[in-house]
Amino acid sequence: MSADHNFQPKIIGIICNWCCYGGADLCGVSRFQYPPHIRLIRVMCSARVDMFHILRAFENGQDGVFVGGCHLCDCHYVTNGNFNAYSMVQVFRKILKHNGIHQERLRIEWVSAGEGIRFANFMNEYSAELTKLGPIGKSEGIDHETLAFKLEAIKRIVPFIKLVLTQRLQVTERSEEAYHKFFHSEEFERLFEEIILDKLTQSQITLLLQKKNLSTGEIANLLGLTPSEVAKHMNNSSKQGLVKYDVESKLYAIA
Ligand code: FES
Repeated sequence: MSADHNFQPKIIGIICNWCCYGGADLCGVSRFQYPPHIRLIRVMCSARVDMFHILRAFENGQDGVFVGGCHLCDCHYVTNGNFNAYSMVQVFRKILKHNGIHQERLRIEWVSAGEGIRFANFMNEYSAELTKLGPIGKSEGIDHETLAFKLEAIKRIVPFIKLVLTQRLQVTERSEEAYHKFFHSEEFERLFEEIILDKLTQSQITLLLQKKNLSTGEIANLLGLTPSEVAKHMNNSSKQGLVKYDVESKLYAIA
């Protein structure tokens, strides 16, 4: 039997105090069963979950991270923070997908304090899904070093993503329908590609150049880009004073 048949995913749940944690508590009191390889961290509101927390969990080898909160519009804070958590997770899942990491590894779920059985059902279903996917990195065909590189490149643009979330990806109506519609719209796809993917690629290039000077072709090969795409990014980065081109060696370097 291969080791993978015994695979148990490592899962972290970061859940809000007022609803999801109550649901988890009720689940325990009611003796509903769910897999033991799940660790829960309590925060006051799902809006407190930061992209850095999620990245750290994946960096530390967690196979799945879920954010648990009150049902949309039932957040216990006037800002309805779970809408912010929802937006952050939608963007983060797209970033994972773009990096070749199964986006199913990150989930967001709403559980009220009276829904112990919903909590147990979600945990069982999510754990089964992750078991089927397999270990992070390995199941995606990404080696440990490359996974660390991808996560580090994301980490470096987290402040930028937070800014984009508040400035460019705001949904005016606080309703589930409006948020679902926006994050499944072509407009969101366009903004994601134009703003976030662009920055992420720049982040990856900078990270590569911090290790060694590279030519356009080498960068293109390493990141799976075309030479013209690399040239566009290098042009922008040069204008921002981030990189420089050495004519003699024909290599790019950190400015
Ligand atoms: Fe539960 Fe805000 S208090 S999501």
